[in-house]
Amino acid sequence: MAHTENTLSSKSEVLIEKENKYGAHNYHPLPVVLEKGEGVYVWDVHGKKYFDFLSAYSAVNQGHCHPKIVQAMVDQAQKLTLTSRAFYNDKLGNYEEYVTNYFGFDKVLPMNTGAEAVETALKICRKWAYEVKGIPENQAQVIVCENNFHGRTTTIISFSNDETARKNFGPFTDGFIKIEYDNLEALEKALESSKNIAGFLVEPIQGEAGVYVPSEGYLAKAKALCEKHNVLFIADEVQTGIARTGKLLAVHHENVQPDVLILGKAISGGVYPVSAVLTNNEIMNVIKPGQHGSTFGGNPVAAAVAIAALEVVKEEKLAENAERLGAILRKGLNKIAERNHLITLVRGKGLLNAIVINSGEESDLAWEICLKFRDNGLLAKPTHGNKIRFAPPLVMTEEQIHECLEIIEKSLNEFK
Ligand SMILES: Cc1ncc(COP(=O)(O)O)c(C=O)c1O
Repeated sequence: MAHTENTLSSKSEVLIEKENKYGAHNYHPLPVVLEKGEGVYVWDVHGKKYFDFLSAYSAVNQGHCHPKIVQAMVDQAQKLTLTSRAFYNDKLGNYEEYVTNYFGFDKVLPMNTGAEAVETALKICRKWAYEVKGIPENQAQVIVCENNFHGRTTTIISFSNDETARKNFGPFTDGFIKIEYDNLEALEKALESSKNIAGFLVEPIQGEAGVYVPSEGYLAKAKALCEKHNVLFIADEVQTGIARTGKLLAVHHENVQPDVLILGKAISGGVYPVSAVLTNNEIMNVIKPGQHGSTFGGNPVAAAVAIAALEVVKEEKLAENAERLGAILRKGLNKIAERNHLITLVRGKGLLNAIVINSGEESDLAWEICLKFRDNGLLAKPTHGNKIRFAPPLVMTEEQIHECLEIIEKSLNEFK
């Protein structure tokens, strides 16, 4: 037995060491090496089974290796994978029709990753500002929020206030005004500060920052202020979209239809990199041939996968499930918090949640707790020091949520 355990642990170690040696150190993964996923579960290379409580940062909303989505990918991959946009293909138009009807927009611009879609939205917004709104050339400003997370490209980190993400990557892109999140007065002041405001880019819930849910009414009022000032309301729903927060989009909690919608992650169920920017014709028509694109954006596999992934969301009523189970999860976590001082706060919407750990942001305690969760069969990761995000796949059952709550409480009790 001892021999088996040694062999097993060395298998993980060898694989971790390979990543360390041959890969850039741009992430700090929890030490667990996964080789299989199905639904809400993942398995490591030793066959140990875990609840996935991160869902690849909310990309795997439909559950790991969803058979319908995987089948759509396999079928399409055996027929035609990539044409580039130099030619038409028989899948893209159908997908464009499907996704625009699904979310209620005129047009979509297909990309691959979340950051690319954010870049795309910013480019469209600026072009609209010059060509439709009439802002003088190179004067357009976009309002963004403090503690935002929109990705890692040079322009996007230009308006981040995460020093780790920014240090020594300058010079940065100009044209952004940063205001406090969830502060309508600050937004109004910024909108009134200049005639050259083109857009307001906002996460309906700040995920990476630690799942900050804004005050009720914030999004609807922010949208109204943008309308008053003829400024585009750009919702980055890369993490909050596709049923994660208990509605198809998080902005739907306040009946808001953004001018520009950014989607990524779960639009493919985590099976393939797919992202999208959706707008109406007046805005999207500013983009002409040669002004934006991507070799892989809108490829036939992406189109087939995204249709299947979005169908699953509706067929399996994932938004309703997220809403219902989210309430059960937060209730359970709050009960644990009453018994265990390690949790100081529980917050979230649907199945996008976080607990705040009773320690400073610099402390390793949240990391240690995540190691304990891992040992007990649940995978989660700290975000911004002392917060742990809980975002399981939306195909979870009530029974499984209770099982997870037991693992969480047991793990926290081991710190007493
Ligand atoms: C709100 C938001 N926008 C954009 C991104 C970037 O997406 P990607 O990592 O696919 O570039 C993320 C990723 O976590 C995100 O949470």
